[in-house]
Amino acid sequence: MDHFNYRNGELFAEDVSVAEIAKKVGTPFYCYSTATLERHFKVFSEAFDGANALVCFAVKANSNLAVIRTLARLGAGADVVSEGELKRALAAGIPASKIVFSGVGKRPWEMEAALKAGIHQFNVESEPEIRVLSDVASRLGMEAPVAFRVNPDVDAKTHAKISTGKAENKFGVPWQDVSRIYGEAAKLPGIRIQGVDVHIGSQLTDLDPFNNAFHRVRELVMQLRQEGHDITQVDLGGGLGIPYDGTIPPSPLSYGAVALEAMGNLGVQLIFEPGRLIVGNAGILVSEVIYVKQGAERKFVILDAAMNDLIRPAMYDGYHHIDTIIAPTGDVELEEADVVGPVCETGDTFAKGRKLPPVAAGDLVAFRSAGAYGAVMASTYNTRPLVPEVLVKGDQFEVIRARPSLDELLQLDNVPAWLDND
Ligand code: LLP
Repeated sequence: MDHFNYRNGELFAEDVSVAEIAKKVGTPFYCYSTATLERHFKVFSEAFDGANALVCFAVKANSNLAVIRTLARLGAGADVVSEGELKRALAAGIPASKIVFSGVGKRPWEMEAALKAGIHQFNVESEPEIRVLSDVASRLGMEAPVAFRVNPDVDAKTHAKISTGKAENKFGVPWQDVSRIYGEAAKLPGIRIQGVDVHIGSQLTDLDPFNNAFHRVRELVMQLRQEGHDITQVDLGGGLGIPYDGTIPPSPLSYGAVALEAMGNLGVQLIFEPGRLIVGNAGILVSEVIYVKQGAERKFVILDAAMNDLIRPAMYDGYHHIDTIIAPTGDVELEEADVVGPVCETGDTFAKGRKLPPVAAGDLVAFRSAGAYGAVMASTYNTRPLVPEVLVKGDQFEVIRARPSLDELLQLDNVPAWLDND
């Protein structure tokens, strides 16, 4: 459920008319709803009511400071994958004690920043990484709290590019080496083994892969304890899907039940890293129709948003529902069109053969479920300024990241003096 609804035939974000925002901000822009963000965080957290659980929002899904701050106020922790995300999480008010640091390629200075901040846990993904972490922590005279991310070799049954828990994927330590790696790591200076971490993929719409992975982890925790490790933390990652195309994924409550059943009575703190589930449906991308063009074979609706603003359709064949800002009247006949952006690539196609109410130049449309992996993956391809972001709360809205000017964009470049000589 979200807070983007039609009122008197016009799309509203909470109590604000989306067209009004467009008038002030210009298009394209992302628009987030505070009430939806809060609701999703609460629904997810409530699935673990009474359990010892820490919900760490996966900052990679949406790293705007105002979004993180909204969640921080509800008690969220953060899952970060770079020094930059760590900085954002801290700046937004998430206590270091609720931050976990994931990722396969952490650099020594990133580890140092996280150690000095006093984060809750490093999710370590390889033997070379644990050695570097041991060196960094020893040099600082500190102890790094560590969980290894394990690769359970489970098929998440999601898009190949966002599947992470198969043996062939780059993530986690290989299942057959886990016991040895824990044993060796426990002897390293500056390392304190405290947990096990798993994350098998994103946009999962089936609970079975979670169930399989979680049960494997349970067995592992019991084995590692027998081998003398004090396992107090189990991080089960993120990955629960959202309804993009009408497929209804399992509810957070049923996902929570699977997790709690698998982990029941282990006596550990559970950590979760949901990203998409928290922010996905809390955001829309608003765009204006530039032209409607009749091609030789197909009709094209050309928008002012492009693949550089929302890459998911081009990159993962992602489906986003497209609504007109003015609600279609009941008797209107839908027309089939390809919805595209102005970027010079055929891949800059948001939807093929999409049935839409008739639209004309100047009309506004909204891509639904665009709050996760939308603005964060935007680029300036085709020298298009980074897309701005707006946050709505009740009847108020504010730009939370402004559209840079073209001059600002050009100023990032440097033309060496030698190019101007002779
Ligand atoms: N934890 C780790 C270690 C992750 O790698 C991810 C996502 C998450 C948590 C959060 O997963 P979520 O709850 O959002 O599914 N850009 C792609 C998704 C990439 C996911 C990367 N890792 C997309 O737009 O579909």
